[in-house]
Amino acid sequence: MSDLFTRAQSVIPGGVDSPVRAFGSVGGAPVFIDRASGPHIHSGDREYIDLVGSWGPALLGHAHPQVVDAVQRAASKGLSFGAPTEAEVELAELVIDRVAPVQKIRFVSTGTEATMTAIRLARGFTGRDLVVKFAGCYHGHEDNMLVAAGSGVATFGMSSSAGVPKGTVEDTVVLPYNNREAVTDLFETHGDRIAAIIAEAAPANMGLVPPEPGFNAFLKEQCEKAGALLILDEVLTGFRLSKSGMWGIDQEVPYSPDLLTFGKVIGGGMPIAALGGRADVMDYLAPLGPVYQAGTLSGNPLATAAGIATLKLADDTVYETINRASEALSTGFSQALTEAGVAHTIQKVGSLFSILFSDTPATNYDEVAAQDQFRYPPFFHSLLEDGIHLPPSVFEAYFVSATHDDAIINRILEAAPKAARAAAEATA
Ligand SMILES: Cc1ncc(COP(=O)(O)O)c(C=O)c1O
Repeated sequence: MSDLFTRAQSVIPGGVDSPVRAFGSVGGAPVFIDRASGPHIHSGDREYIDLVGSWGPALLGHAHPQVVDAVQRAASKGLSFGAPTEAEVELAELVIDRVAPVQKIRFVSTGTEATMTAIRLARGFTGRDLVVKFAGCYHGHEDNMLVAAGSGVATFGMSSSAGVPKGTVEDTVVLPYNNREAVTDLFETHGDRIAAIIAEAAPANMGLVPPEPGFNAFLKEQCEKAGALLILDEVLTGFRLSKSGMWGIDQEVPYSPDLLTFGKVIGGGMPIAALGGRADVMDYLAPLGPVYQAGTLSGNPLATAAGIATLKLADDTVYETINRASEALSTGFSQALTEAGVAHTIQKVGSLFSILFSDTPATNYDEVAAQDQFRYPPFFHSLLEDGIHLPPSVFEAYFVSATHDDAIINRILEAAPKAARAAAEATA
């Protein structure tokens, strides 16, 4: 397989179409996948149990027969029309039915497009420029979200990518996650300039960092007082943590985001994403309103068919199964690490979890970054050797599917003690 990686590197920058796939932070050559089914991916003659799930979409397991069938039936009727379809309306109705704050929805092709459009819409609707994001939250690769994390205090944007004009990010403010004081201070000084706060509903792109109870509701309250909008990014958590995403299990203090963004599970593995929310805000989008957004492949019939089939199949049993699988897996990993004497914390929200190599739970990016990161590559490679495919970075969450049954979880956990010992032996 490393021959293929060499071949890939000569024609594709880094050999990959998305950086994390290159195994940069764990070393070695990535697994090139030829097919996947249920909880498994296959590479040549090797089979792996997959805990990446295409970074989230594979809620039902890979290549669910009914989803594949829906896509094949749609494909036989034409691949793209660039015109409205009944299927788009059906998918819109399914989302609106599940997520109460969504009154209207617009489909796009990627999560990046969804958050980019939501931010433009918030700016257009409020007539303000500043957007607040949190260090360690990822919202896609649009220019104004590629902003470095400031630590402790608010930093006015400095891009973490080359090629982003300074002017593009100077209206992005980065705050430490879970820090109410930093939010309050910013709103006191600049509240009338803030268009929106964008936050991952439950941050999962720095490993899992649970929002402290009521944090999202607090963000909404701050926004409402200042005439700003709350954009809840559910690209990763939407339809994964519950039928109505993180929002649905985060109502101890009830709140209603103004806009939400979706991706991943909403297309069951096909390229479709969306932004939705308050009808008065959504109607600011063209053709009704002055905020422009468009897409040749938006609402593509194959992607829409996969989304409809996936959401219809995502019933209570699916969520019970993935919750149980993730509980057994995280508990088993934790036991193995404890027995090997490795300091760690399971960071978990619903069925999403990650392992933090520190015995102090992390509440923000700086705390995540301070863990014993060097313990992850040997842990990862030991499991890979034993046929378990984990995310190739300590900063990513583990994804289980409805096909990760007891037998699959037991097979992963049989391999865990060796991986835990490898993590214990690692040196900085
Ligand atoms: C929370 C969140 N928002 C936005 C995105 C961007 O989505 P996409 O990769 O489809 O552009 C991601 C991708 O991982 C994400 O996790």
